[in-house]
Amino acid sequence: MDLKTFTYLYHKTRGLSRAEIIQEAELTEDEYAMLEESMSASLAEINADRTRAASIGREFVRLTRYIYEERSDQELGLARPDAVKPRAGEIFALPAVDKIAKPEMALHQAISQRRSLRKYSGQPFSQEELSFLLWASSWASDFRSGENMEFTRRNVPSAGSRHPLECHLLINNVVGLKPGLYYYHPLKHCLVLFNDSPSIANEICDGCLRQMMVANSAFTVILTALPYRTVWRYAQRGYRYLYLDAGHVGQNIHLAAEAVGGGACMIAAYQDEAMNDCLGVDGVEEFVIYIAAVGKKG
Ligand SMILES: Cc1cc2nc3c(=O)[nH]c(=O)nc-3n(C[C@H](O)[C@H](O)[C@H](O)COP(=O)(O)O)c2cc1C
Repeated sequence: MDLKTFTYLYHKTRGLSRAEIIQEAELTEDEYAMLEESMSASLAEINADRTRAASIGREFVRLTRYIYEERSDQELGLARPDAVKPRAGEIFALPAVDKIAKPEMALHQAISQRRSLRKYSGQPFSQEELSFLLWASSWASDFRSGENMEFTRRNVPSAGSRHPLECHLLINNVVGLKPGLYYYHPLKHCLVLFNDSPSIANEICDGCLRQMMVANSAFTVILTALPYRTVWRYAQRGYRYLYLDAGHVGQNIHLAAEAVGGGACMIAAYQDEAMNDCLGVDGVEEFVIYIAAVGKKG
């Protein structure tokens, strides 16, 4: 969904007037008329869900209490999900985790100076620095695969070590890496390029509601969640754990960025449909859950 369509739907379903919507979405009269026609089904769908949407948070917390937990698919003996999603594309090796120089900054300093950084110097990240940040936040130190269970261990915690998050990177300014959208392989510690269209950075910036730190970042981490990895073990309560897991990854991104003279800003204000489209995921079995823009300090 493009930004104009999103902005139209967003304001229309919140009751803004035609003139206000035209202004907010920067539409012409013709564009507005076309959206009125082409988006009528989507409008009806959003409006029909409005009442439930207004109270879903409380319901979600209530109905995912431990007392309601169903027997999970794991308990029922259903096939285990894979711990890592297979990928195809051009592969770029990263400096090996046991070879990279570890930053000297003390942990207490990284913690105390961490603040959200939205303006970057334009200085690039080196591949070593990127490798360090990925080591801290997504790298798998161990992988076990059996008939009944497959899991990874990482430098972040995850409920049941299910690690339901996959890491993607919009690379804008990393020495020796061409700009584009990459997947980070947590076992092979390499990047897999899957979209090098010249427009991808702009599309992702649109998806992040034109938060310009995305376009100006050295790179932006985009985490997706595959809920079934966790739901297989914990049933519906597993959905709570996805968001908790994502928070741990976000904090390690923050601290690792600080340690190499950079900074990060987490992003949760994004257009779900557009971001899922950019990543080529369906929004149900896999969806964008958390985003972090990263760059160097001025
Ligand atoms: C879950 C979450 C979502 C956030 N989403 C955004 C965002 O979309 N845009 C933004 O500019 N900052 C975002 N932030 C950054 C917060 O605004 C920031 O952490 C907060 O103002 C506190 O400032 P500090 O991080 O410098 O301590 C987000 C932070 C978190 C933890």
